[in-house]
Amino acid sequence: MGLITIDESTCRRCGFCARACPVGIIALGEGFPTTGFPATIEKIEKGCITCGHCVAACPAGALSHCRMKPEECPPLEPGWRLTPEQVGQLVKGRRSIRNFRKEPLKQDVIEQLMDIVRYAPTGMNTQTVSWKVILDEQEIQFLSLAVIEWLRTLEGEQVHGVKGMLKAWEKGRDPILRKAPALIIAHGAVDDPMVSASATIALATLDLAALPFGLGTCWAGFLHQAALNSPGVATALGLPAGQRMYGGVMIGYPEFEYSRIPLRNQAKVIWG
Ligand SMILES: Cc1cc2nc3c(=O)[nH]c(=O)nc-3n(C[C@H](O)[C@H](O)[C@H](O)COP(=O)(O)O)c2cc1C
Repeated sequence: MGLITIDESTCRRCGFCARACPVGIIALGEGFPTTGFPATIEKIEKGCITCGHCVAACPAGALSHCRMKPEECPPLEPGWRLTPEQVGQLVKGRRSIRNFRKEPLKQDVIEQLMDIVRYAPTGMNTQTVSWKVILDEQEIQFLSLAVIEWLRTLEGEQVHGVKGMLKAWEKGRDPILRKAPALIIAHGAVDDPMVSASATIALATLDLAALPFGLGTCWAGFLHQAALNSPGVATALGLPAGQRMYGGVMIGYPEFEYSRIPLRNQAKVIWG
């Protein structure tokens, strides 16, 4: 079986598959290939990144990729297109949540969320972001403590906010992971050149995708910094060998809802 198979009885020869292919593997029409039906250019086939654009772009379901059949790829629901106002409210109304209800997160809710997040774009469709989900409050508390211990070593260095955080911790608050019921960490190979950006995008996607589930998130920036700079914190994370944390979020049900959209700077744009 070749890389793609065309059902010639349904193919409309529209050429969308060829135009959608990011690596230009598919050609059709005049001259090459002579049939006018889409076909791959054999000598560059190995450049295929299995992104599935050829299958997804075909309006007739006539193109099958050897690793992706059209019947395996769900059709889009045209009636579900959101308005700019709806997306605007989703994005502008999202807040970093630092007050969580004492309600554990069910694994199946996180599984539903991750099933959406896995569609976030990844460099060259590498899909190399991996996840560690911690649902155990004690384990989250243990990580906060590891970060606090690292911050104590920086106390003399006038790092912004450290004193306040140490004070808060001593008073029984958790300024690091905010007593969140769950923590989601994006990790990947230390030497993967794509994974840093892919993980950040996946986390940003998760941030927004969590909202319709009634969940709120907050980026775990202090934990991330500590994981990169403190061997103790990196060990406490318990990631597989050769893997590094590329970001993370606390997640849970917010204690209260926000009623307004706070002001933000105008986008700084240079028009070319
Ligand atoms: C990379 C990054 C790291 C962050 N780390 C933390 C953190 O460790 N703790 C925290 O409470 N908020 C953290 N935040 C949340 C920011 O403080 C927050 O996004 C900002 O104040 C704007 O508020 P908003 O997200 O509600 O719009 C982080 C945000 C980003 C983007």
